[in-house]
Amino acid sequence: MDRSILLIITGGIAAFKSLELIRELGRAGVRSRVILTKAAQEFVTPLSVSALSGEKCFTELFNLNDEAEMGHIELSRSADLVVVCPASADIMAKAANGLANDLASTALLATDKPVLYAPAMNVRMWQHPAVKRNVAQLRDDGATVLEPDEGLMACGEFGPGRLPEIERLKASILSALTPDDTLAGKHVLITAGPTREPIDPVRYLTNHSSGRQGYAIASALAARGADVTLVSGPVSLPAPSGVKLVKIETAQEMLAACQSALPADAFISVAAVADWRPVNASESKLKLKGGEDPVSLQFVENPDILKTISNSETQRPELVIGFAAETHELEKYAQEKLKTKGCDWIIANDVSGDVMGGDRNQVSLFSQQGVERSPEASKAQIADWIVSRIAEALI
Ligand code: C5P
Repeated sequence: MDRSILLIITGGIAAFKSLELIRELGRAGVRSRVILTKAAQEFVTPLSVSALSGEKCFTELFNLNDEAEMGHIELSRSADLVVVCPASADIMAKAANGLANDLASTALLATDKPVLYAPAMNVRMWQHPAVKRNVAQLRDDGATVLEPDEGLMACGEFGPGRLPEIERLKASILSALTPDDTLAGKHVLITAGPTREPIDPVRYLTNHSSGRQGYAIASALAARGADVTLVSGPVSLPAPSGVKLVKIETAQEMLAACQSALPADAFISVAAVADWRPVNASESKLKLKGGEDPVSLQFVENPDILKTISNSETQRPELVIGFAAETHELEKYAQEKLKTKGCDWIIANDVSGDVMGGDRNQVSLFSQQGVERSPEASKAQIADWIVSRIAEALI
């Protein structure tokens, strides 16, 4: 393999292990260019890093010699992958919040390359809600955050927080450096988010969908080389990289956008499409009438996008997947939907908790072959779980 990483070593007792990582990666043909944070220099020296990596080690943001040789922006983009190992609670907090006050955090903000974090910290720190929030944010932003190992820690406590073993680190880095193009040449059409059905120019009918699960699936598909069209309702998420994003508001617009994006090899209907829309949205703002008489609005049913595409005679994708968000009797409704919608799979999840808008999820995949349950995991991990199965079905 002829690849290179930018390795950011942050402060912590596990920092010395990254020296072994540099050596192991070098044996596999991966060059490491290294940034040491100030705290990391308490544990390893720039000299030992340079001796092992065979490259200059970078430590300062505003160093005229370094900047003349290679500016920090270029440094952040010159490698195929950015690895933060060990990743302290501090660097993850900075990166999750967009802080850039030293070379390491600035490089993380400036990079356009994939980023992999290998956390190592005290078990209580790892389990702190603030760290959990930051990890969830980094994953949401598209980074990979490895789960730390569990065991006896340098501080004498026991639990998760140890730096993953070098072998696991090396395997994760090598796999991140090997582009997965199992879905190359496949066009996947996916919908996500809510739809917004106007009542008048200032009011609308919608739902709580955040779009996160659909966006995570779109990213996971693109990461495997698929050509992805994401038709999305209004959400506050950044466009996933490598995906063609088509923004719409209403269910009717979503259907039209999907139809014009066909043909596709697979259609994944993750969007929480509003079931109804007000009949004839008012062109001017509706006014209070005063008094106590009930006010009524009339609704008509929206087109069922999933059903329409499932039943398309000429352009039905090879694999059509619907989602079912239910608060009770998950299996019964999922089985019913498989039939009524005419799709190949229904991916069902229980939304009685805080799934809608939350970071974690757990799904069951219903098909003619039976049912398969995913583990409870982050929405990014659930997306990977789903996309692995899509890849198996399409190739
Ligand atoms: O019937 P229900 O809304 O529970 O079905 C959910 C599935 O159907 C989801 O995959 C959703 O994206 C899709 N759907 C649709 N058009 C609608 C309603 C739901 O595509 N009008």
